[in-house]
Parts: sequence; structure tokens; C-alpha cells
Amino acid sequence: MRKKLVIGNWKMHGNLQQNEALLSAILRDIDGLAVGVAVCVPFPYLQQTANLLSGSVVAWGAQTLSEHPSGAYTGEVSASMLRDFGCRYVLVGHSERRALFGETDAAVAAKFRSAQVNGLVPVLCVGETLAERDAGRTLEVVRAQVNAVINLLGVEALASAVVAYEPVWAIGTGVTASPAQAQEVHAAIRDHIAGANCNVAQALPILYGGSVKAQNAAALFACKDIDGGLIGGAALVAEDFVAVCRAAA
Ligand code: PGA
Repeated sequence: MRKKLVIGNWKMHGNLQQNEALLSAILRDIDGLAVGVAVCVPFPYLQQTANLLSGSVVAWGAQTLSEHPSGAYTGEVSASMLRDFGCRYVLVGHSERRALFGETDAAVAAKFRSAQVNGLVPVLCVGETLAERDAGRTLEVVRAQVNAVINLLGVEALASAVVAYEPVWAIGTGVTASPAQAQEVHAAIRDHIAGANCNVAQALPILYGGSVKAQNAAALFACKDIDGGLIGGAALVAEDFVAVCRAAA
């Protein structure tokens, strides 16, 4: 059985004081829950997060990274730098990175590779826009996003990775995919990967993201192929985030 995993994505939120209060409250209330928990924080707060979480059950990571190991890439942050701060996870290809910062499938796959080469677990975010869903293209779109990684690195690369299905129309909108809608896509992703390697597909954690909150988390996490969540808004309030983690436990 796959263990459930809940990852908070803070996006561009927080400050030193708020982060300390949030992480302390999470640590206080999360203890003993049978669920993997992590937070992906903005780069400047990685040291603070490492200080507060090291030795705890909560892992941490970043929200993106450079595909390059080092060099003249002003403003970029490499995978080895993230390792220096104890990151376990890094999001790659979040829909906001794809839509607002022009990240292509090829760039996302290169970032995925860079993360793995440096011992990080990439969390590959995939998902369709509303227009793509309305056009009946959901499965085609998410398969292509997964294929970009498989074509570059082989299906075995997914043996030490996480996939997050996040329909773009559900992110930050308050509209969640229904459990049936999400399960359908999760199962399709798993089937698609199973076509190349059954064991990798069975072991792969596939998280759902998009307006997950305490009220809808349990029904989503009860679905066969939904292995936890990638949580945005609800990750910024300790009691909401802990309630989502409880729903997964
Ligand atoms: P949301 O964000 O939970 O606020 O919809 C999810 C995400 O973007 O990862």
C-alpha cells in the first residue's frame, strides 16, 4: 500500500514571524499522524525552515529550481543549493510556472532531471486548463506532460518521484475536482505509466491539488488512486493544513 503524502505549497507567501508561528503549530499538532508531510517554502526561508523542522517528521522543499547545475543564470537557484539546505522535495512544472514563466514540457523535464541527479525528489505537477477539459483533451494533456519526463529519462525515473495532478481550473479558485473527476485522471495517469512499467506505476504517489481543504479532503483521499494532496491556500493556516493531514492519515 502506498503511504499517503501531504505537501504544502506556500507559493509567494510568508515572513519570518508568520513562518515560525505556522511551522511551530504544525509540528505541535502533526505528531503521531501516519502520513508523510512536507512544506515547499520560498527560497529565502529555506534556512529558517531547515532550522525549525530538522529532526522532525515534517520534510521540506522548494517550489522550483534551475535545470542548470551552475553558471551565469542570474536569479536562478540550482538543485545542489537546495540540497545544501536539506530539501527533500522540489516542485517542478507547477501550472503557475508553466503559465506565468513560460516553462515548457521540455524545461520541466530538464528540471526534473536536475533534481534527481542531486538527490531531490521531484514533484511533477500536471494538469489541464478549463478550455482543454471542455474540449475533451484532459487525458491527452496530462499524458503528454508525463511523457516529457519519460521520453527524456525513461519510466524508471518515476520510481523516485511524486506526481501531482492539479487541474488548472481548480487551483486557488475554490472549485475542486469531484472525487470521481480526480480519480478518473489519477487512474489514467497510473494506467499510462503501467503500460511502460507496472511496478513503477503501482508504487508512484499521485497527489491531487486544487482547492483541497478540510471539508473535501477525506472524500478525495479515499479514492483508490489518490495518494494525498498538494495544498496551496489551506497550507497557510496551521489548523487547516493539519486538518487536511488528518484526513489523509
Ligand atoms: P490551492 O493551490 O490549494 O490554493 O488551490 C494548490 C497548488 O497550487 O498547489
